[in-house]
Amino acid sequence: MLGGVTDTTAAPPGTPPRMPPATRPGADGLPGGPGELASALEATGYLPDEGLATAAYLALVMRRPLFLEGEAGVGKTALARALAEVTGRPLYRLQCYEGLEASQALYDWDFGRQLLHLRAAEAAHATGDTEALEASLYDRRFLLARPLLQALEDSPSVLLVDEVDRADDEFEAFLLEVLSDFTISIPELGTVRADVPPLVVLTSNRTREVHDALKRRCLYHWLEHPGFDREVAILRTRLPEVTEQLAREVARATGTLRSLDLLKPPGVAEAMDWASALHALGARDLDPDLAARTLGAVLKYREDTDRVHALARGALFGGA
Ligand SMILES: Nc1ncnc2c1ncn2[C@@H]1O[C@H](COP(=O)(O)OP(=O)(O)OP(=O)(O)O)[C@@H](O)[C@H]1O
Ligand SMILES: [Mg+2]
Repeated sequence: MLGGVTDTTAAPPGTPPRMPPATRPGADGLPGGPGELASALEATGYLPDEGLATAAYLALVMRRPLFLEGEAGVGKTALARALAEVTGRPLYRLQCYEGLEASQALYDWDFGRQLLHLRAAEAAHATGDTEALEASLYDRRFLLARPLLQALEDSPSVLLVDEVDRADDEFEAFLLEVLSDFTISIPELGTVRADVPPLVVLTSNRTREVHDALKRRCLYHWLEHPGFDREVAILRTRLPEVTEQLAREVARATGTLRSLDLLKPPGVAEAMDWASALHALGARDLDPDLAARTLGAVLKYREDTDRVHALARGALFGGA
């Protein structure tokens, strides 16, 4: 898939400078270097900076999980999606939450279907050999594959372990085990092993620290909010209907909001929502009154909104 996505001519104004060209020829369908991967990602609409493109490239060629940390809305989840698109691999997503258990991550037996099978076998008077009947209950067709197993069975794939900081310690330890040898043993069926390990992207909002043992398995990258030029380029790429002037002014104002030590600084997602909201109201640039009225698209705490309203609007939402 990589071959056809290096065309860079359609980049919108304000696109940051491109990275150096590929440094080694692509092998195994992988990009030839961080620059080539960056171009391919850009072609899907995802604009990485040089550090992120390098980390993602290394994760691909070194076959190491990529641990992405950063504030909400900086593009962690979107990167995994874009990497799946670029590599042409299927994406499997495991959304983590408190109390997540291995059975929800790996596999489960479909109890309902097993029961039906049993009833059908009984109805057909095929119950002579109890052992054989029992064994038939643990057939692959009664197994519900969850994201980790799916990613291994369908590898090469992309496995997104999203918001791993929400899961608890036990799950983290279990994850460490799976990521160590990419093997899952199902007692009734045997062992599933991925010849090519999936490209694993773990994300965290850092609501708690993830253990060093898990991080040690991974390449680590802290995702920052984009700089002004990149944010304008992202807005222009994702929302081509928004005028360049509006994109620039939203990016400028969003950057200012981020410097205010708010409870929840806006991410790229909020900048996009804000630009969309303004566009929906017919704005072609950031009119201070309209900006004040649409703050709910970009700020999600009353304290933050009150604070911003209290500040001089002109200073915040002046032209870019
Ligand atoms: N570099 C980028 N290029 C293009 N789009 C981006 C970029 N960064 C973020 N976005 C867009 O911003 C939005 C938010 O991104 P995403 O959901 O990946 O953030 P996140 O870091 O996973 O946030 P959260 O921690 O809340 O889950 C998405 O629509 C995504 O496409
Ligand atoms: Mg996310």
